[in-house]
Formats: sequence, C-alpha cells, structure tokens
Amino acid sequence: MNIDTTNTLELRNAMVDRLRESGIITDTRVEDAMRRVPRHLFIPQAHFQRAYTGESVVTHRDEQGVATSSVSEAGIVAVMLQQLDVQPGHRILEIGAGTGYNAALLAEMTGPAGTVTSIDIDAQVAREAAENLAAAGYDTVRVACGDGDLGDVTSAPFDRIIVTAGAWDLPHAWQEQLAPGGVLVVPLRMRGLTRSIALQWEDGRWRSRSMYECGFMPIRGLGGIAERNVQLGGDSGVFIRTDEGREADPEALGTALKHPPTVRWTGAITRNAKHVDLWLSHLDGFCRMIATAPALERGLVRPIYPWGSMAVVTSNSFAYLLQRPSGTDTDGKQLIELGVCAYGPDGDKLAAMVAGRMTAWQHARASLSDLWVEVYPADAANVPDGVLNITKRNTHVVIRSGS
Ligand SMILES: C[S@@+](CC[C@H](N)C(=O)[O-])C[C@H]1O[C@@H](n2cnc3c(N)ncnc32)[C@H](O)[C@@H]1O
Repeated sequence: MNIDTTNTLELRNAMVDRLRESGIITDTRVEDAMRRVPRHLFIPQAHFQRAYTGESVVTHRDEQGVATSSVSEAGIVAVMLQQLDVQPGHRILEIGAGTGYNAALLAEMTGPAGTVTSIDIDAQVAREAAENLAAAGYDTVRVACGDGDLGDVTSAPFDRIIVTAGAWDLPHAWQEQLAPGGVLVVPLRMRGLTRSIALQWEDGRWRSRSMYECGFMPIRGLGGIAERNVQLGGDSGVFIRTDEGREADPEALGTALKHPPTVRWTGAITRNAKHVDLWLSHLDGFCRMIATAPALERGLVRPIYPWGSMAVVTSNSFAYLLQRPSGTDTDGKQLIELGVCAYGPDGDKLAAMVAGRMTAWQHARASLSDLWVEVYPADAANVPDGVLNITKRNTHVVIRSGS
C-alpha cells in the first residue's frame, strides 16, 4: 500500500486533537508521545486510516474466533499512560506486548535513559511486536515471550508495570519486581466488570491512586480464568457471559427468552450508569448479557450499552438492565431512567430484586462517585469491609468509598 506520510501525520494529529478536546488526554507527555508514534505501523494488516480512528483493532483470534490480541483503543491507551505517570529514565515492564504500539509510546516517554521490556504470552504476537517496533525505529524496546504472571526477573526491578490484558488477580511477582514507590497499572476484573486501576504498594497492601471503567480481553496462562459465553437457545445472538465458575443453562434461558418479559421501571434517573455494575455485582448470579448487532436490530433485547447490559441469572431465568429517556437536567443534558427486563419462571422475583437494588443505588450513589481500591494479600489479617469485597486466589480486593 502506498502510504502518504503527510496524510498519516495529519490523521495522527487529528486523532490526538480529538482525544484532547474530549478531555481524555490531559497530560502533555502522553500527548507528545501519541503525536510522535506512527500508530499505523503497528497494525500493518489494517488500512492506515483505520489506525487513526483510534478504535481497537483485533489482530489475532483463536480457533473459535475469539479475539486473543489487538491494538487497544487509543483513548484507554492514553488514560492508562496518564495513570502510569511515566518519567524520563524509568525502567518499565509492559505485560501484553500485542502490536508493540504501547511499548513504543512508553519508549518515547521514558527516553534514552530509561528501559522498556514488553512481554507477550503468544510467541507469534511477540515476534510481530518486535518487528513492528523495529520498523517504526523503536528497537531499544526488549520484547520477550513469557507469562506476565511471572513478571520478568531478567530486567526487574521496575519503576512502572503496566498490564494491557484484563487480570483476574495480582500475582506476587508484580509486587516483588516493582521498586519502592513504583506504580502498577492494571485492568482488574472483578465479577465480570473491569477497572483500570493505578496501584502503589504501601503498608502491606496495594492502594489505588486512580480508577477508570474499561474493557480488556482476559489475561491467559497462569493467571487466566475461564470465561463462558453461553448463547441462549443456541442461535439467538444473545449471550450470558459468566466467569469465576458461575454457570448458565443455555436451554432453560433460551426457552425463557421466547416468552414475554416482565418490565419494571425503577425510578432511578441518571445521566449515565457509572458504577451501577459495581453496585449490582453484589447480587448472586451477577453477569453480563451480550447481544450481537443482528439481535439488537431484531429488537430481541434492548440493553443499555451497544455491547449489552449488566444482568443477573438463575437456573431458568435472567434479568438485565434497560433504559428509557427521562427528560434533561438543569444543564440540558439527557437523562435516562433505568429499568429491569426479566425473563423466565423467576422473572417477576428477579425483576423485583434488581429494581430494589437500583432503588438502593439511587440513595447510595453520591458516595459511589469517590471510590478507591485496596488489595490485601490472601493471608492478611483485618481486611476491612468495603462497598464490595472480593476474595481472589492471591488477594482480597476491597472497593471502598468516601475519603
Ligand atoms: C489488548 S492486547 C495488548 C495491546 C498492546 N499493549 C498494544 O499496544 O498493542 C493483550 C495482549 O495480552 C497478551 N496476553 C494475554 N495473557 C498474557 C499473559 N499472561 N502474559 C503476557 N501477555 C499476555 C495477549 O496475547 C495480547 O497480545
């Protein structure tokens, strides 16, 4: 393909301008790096214009067609780099080399005095990342194939560790290989929801510095957990996504989907559903309902996001959140009312339970705007109670609110 370099520079600057204007890029060091790194050279399989839409581009899939590697969406790349707070001279470990794009940004930010090591569990992906980095002139980045759960003993310690796959837990190696005062940025998966969290190790536990909603493909290997995507009725295009050992019966739930649902409006009126997922994740059977574009076009389900909605599942019934317009606020911003749509023999009961939880959210939401996370080792004594406590293999995650 004949690529006009003036054109790619213009497209790149336009992408960065958009990220700045929308308030996503707030740090000039991240902005400068994103203006310098030619993103299109890291996705040679895609048309160069696509690289500068800023969208995520899947580069590898497994035999079932499930995405296993991609370049991440430019907005979340910028947010995570800001969370990481990279300084010139830093020693950095990236887990999830993917295309090598983020590693190039890290190399720009840490400069010639710093080092960047990027590892990927997939040998082919690691090879391609190294080729892309060399083609773009970032051959000082060390790319290795390995399981990120083990960190990278050969280059440790690190001032910064960034994980670019959804992690279920925090392995010991990340704490052991992070220098005192270092920062770990990780998309942490908690009951199916993911937050990019910047953490520092202090007083025997991780304490968050910032936290953003995001979505990432799950980490594989030693720290991996099976995620199930159960298609209801076999071909509906509506899936229940569960993890951490939760089950969903495709036959019973497919039958439930064929019957008219119970719809309950909750009176919970909001601009957006921020942290509602976290609030609902207390419920037994909390999961995600994912809908394909054809299922949405047929009006089979009406979830609150283009990808689907938060949901709750029992052995034969499920309920998901939906929304309807509810006027505007004093700034003229669109408001929505959240509702529940439930299917199956337990539908009425589920709808009432989820609606009750939404009413409680309505009262508690002010305190939910100020959340932070603490992560304690599995054997820690005196783990505090939070908005949400989750016990993992290596750790206890506590989501806390207030100051
Ligand atoms: C979203 S992609 C990373 C995007 C990448 N940072 C970029 O700039 O293109 C996630 C990557 O994590 C890798 N991965 C998954 N589990 C891993 C693990 N345990 N250790 C290292 N890499 C892993 C996948 O192979 C995939 O390439």
